[in-house]
Amino acid sequence: ALERTFSIIKPDAVAKNVIGAIYNRFETAGLRIVASKMLHLSKEQAEGFYAEHSARPFFGALVSFMTSGPVMIQVLEGENAVRKNREIMGATNPAEALAGTLRADYAASIDENACHGSDAAESAAREIAYFFADEELCPRTR
Ligand code: CMP
Repeated sequence: ALERTFSIIKPDAVAKNVIGAIYNRFETAGLRIVASKMLHLSKEQAEGFYAEHSARPFFGALVSFMTSGPVMIQVLEGENAVRKNREIMGATNPAEALAGTLRADYAASIDENACHGSDAAESAAREIAYFFADEELCPRTR
């Protein structure tokens, strides 16, 4: 089915200057960028986005990393976009990520792992709405 998913290029990958390289992976796989912006997350924005992880031992480090520099956030649209984006990213831990995935190529550790992608259609809808107003989404008309 035609789906949307939410994606973040994290501060480590922005610092490595690979935004375009990562966008190329999305487009080559048939995903379309239908919304996009760069922002430097506040502590409150990062804590709110990752609220489901607030009790985990890595939460403080996660918020600190995600606010350490600008991120690129985007909405990707395409057939099975949630699963396709997760395949492009590879496993959360780069040590387990398959060759040719974003995490294998660009991530240094499970904490600094280059990108985020929604894990299901429901979380995608919530994550998109957290950062984008409806009118910021630009479905293709041609
Ligand atoms: P992300 O998909 O952005 O969601 C939460 C992030 O927490 C995850 O990617 C990892 O970068 C980070 N993280 C750090 N340690 C862990 C862990 N043990 N399990 C899952 N996520 C972790």
